[in-house]
Amino acid sequence: MVNAQIETVEDKEQLAHRAAQEFVHVANESISSRGRFTVALSGGSTPHRLYELLADETQPYRAQIAWRHTHFFWGDERCVSPDDPQSNFRTAFDALLSRAPVTDENIYRIEAERADANDAARDYERRLQTFFNLTDKEFPAFDLVLLGLGADGHTASLFPDSTAIKEQAHLVVATWVAKLNAHRITLTVPTINHARHIMFLVSGADKSEVVKQIFMREQSNEAALPAQLIGTETNAPRWIVDRSAAQLL
Ligand code: 6PG
Repeated sequence: MVNAQIETVEDKEQLAHRAAQEFVHVANESISSRGRFTVALSGGSTPHRLYELLADETQPYRAQIAWRHTHFFWGDERCVSPDDPQSNFRTAFDALLSRAPVTDENIYRIEAERADANDAARDYERRLQTFFNLTDKEFPAFDLVLLGLGADGHTASLFPDSTAIKEQAHLVVATWVAKLNAHRITLTVPTINHARHIMFLVSGADKSEVVKQIFMREQSNEAALPAQLIGTETNAPRWIVDRSAAQLL
């Protein structure tokens, strides 16, 4: 595990507040340096409270963000329609994007409802190349990529034993997840690792075993868990973990 920084917080609510503080910090630094903030949102349930806090007018975060310079992407998406409760877009839209002063043009949704998942992946890859003005060989530098962690060590939709975790050329791939009996669309490891800031948010006792595996595992010859592929020597991910998830460290 590259020299990741792990910060333990009391509970899920504190996790959301710390994540919101980091979100605001990276947004302000990005906009003052480059005139824009590009963030790839995470799916799953953990970031839901973060999204609510960012949009909440009674919290300090909303007023600190230059929303018109903030551009929203996703780290992964389920192959469902955008109004499906399982959709990562829908989770972020309901909790954040429909409540904060976000302009529609700044929302870059993965069109994962397409009949052909590979077509959806190629489309998103082309849209990233256009937005970030990339040649075919370059990767986008998101200012921030938010990530969750599955109990099996997956992150985004990079699952153990998948071909997706080996992909080094494409920015985005479609991947079949046998255990879920479903396709997913996901950013690849090199795309995530080119981000300026990578932040894992992990909560709950059900993640304590995998957190221990990730941080305590000797550099054995066992295959690294997908989450252990994230980060480089020069770009260590930040981990914000609540006490129940960190209890075995
Ligand atoms: C997804 C996410 C996935 C998620 C983890 C943790 O689409 O489900 O991208 O990687 O972050 O499975 O999910 P929870 O936050 O719900 O535990």
